[in-house]
Amino acid sequence: MLVGYDTADDAGVFRIDAEHALVQTVDFFTPVVDDPTLFGAIAAANSLSDVYAMGAEPLTALAIACFPEEGMDLEILTRIMSGGVEKLREAEVALLGGHTVADPEIKFGYSITGMVHPDRIMTNAGARPGDALVLTKPLGIGILTSGIKFNRTSAEGADRAIAVMTTLNRAAAEVMRKFDCHAATDITGFGLLGHAYEMAEASRAALRFQSGRIPFIQEAYRLAEARVLPRTIATTWQMIEPKTSVAPSVPEPLKHVMLDPQTSGGLLIAVGATELGALLEEMARSRVEACHVGLVEECTGPRIIVD
Ligand code: CO
Ligand code: CO
Repeated sequence: MLVGYDTADDAGVFRIDAEHALVQTVDFFTPVVDDPTLFGAIAAANSLSDVYAMGAEPLTALAIACFPEEGMDLEILTRIMSGGVEKLREAEVALLGGHTVADPEIKFGYSITGMVHPDRIMTNAGARPGDALVLTKPLGIGILTSGIKFNRTSAEGADRAIAVMTTLNRAAAEVMRKFDCHAATDITGFGLLGHAYEMAEASRAALRFQSGRIPFIQEAYRLAEARVLPRTIATTWQMIEPKTSVAPSVPEPLKHVMLDPQTSGGLLIAVGATELGALLEEMARSRVEACHVGLVEECTGPRIIVD
């Protein structure tokens, strides 16, 4: 076992031989959008993301579905699955099978298996002082999807969130593998700051963010101002607060956006500072919305610093 469950990494890694290691992960959740096909696509992109974050190539998928025994049209499950299959096809990943159980609440996702060279595994533990931090998708997904549930998100806001969630982290991961990157993780339930905190702890370093550089979907910021906030923002903040230092000048809604739980969020990458410019250029060429958001420092107290 090369990467187990103890370091809060994105996926487990098991060495087969000198050149091959298996990368495995599982993720499933309740619908974040009303459209079954889109939900399936989002679930697939989200599950694949953990494999991309490890610097690995996803190969196969197994579907996991929970669906009500009665009172719901089975056609909905068919559409969820077809949305997922379409996304797996885009990623060139083979669906091998799956399992469905009866459950009053719909849940859907995948277990993904990938492959990586044992020397090329990208964990969240390798960030080094001096590295630049890059984020590859804008934030605000959790706020916008909870706004959808309370009819506070506009149709444009919902479309933008869906476009971000259904975008594979494949292109970002391919660019990452070409450069001197030391650590990566995908941004999901704990938001940018929660996952950054895990990276900082695992890397025994501190991560400093420049709040003015943080990319987010504009409407999410407006909803955060209006206090349309997923509950996990508060619980993640409680978890990281003792070792986090946020400058008083950082607006409260921006802090909330940085804690916002993402579904199928982007990659947070620590790259050697001399390669930052070239990495960002290549990301732009690959149509990845990557932004330079901060840097890695020696840890002298707080794990996370936001200026
Ligand atoms: Co992850
Ligand atoms: Co995951």
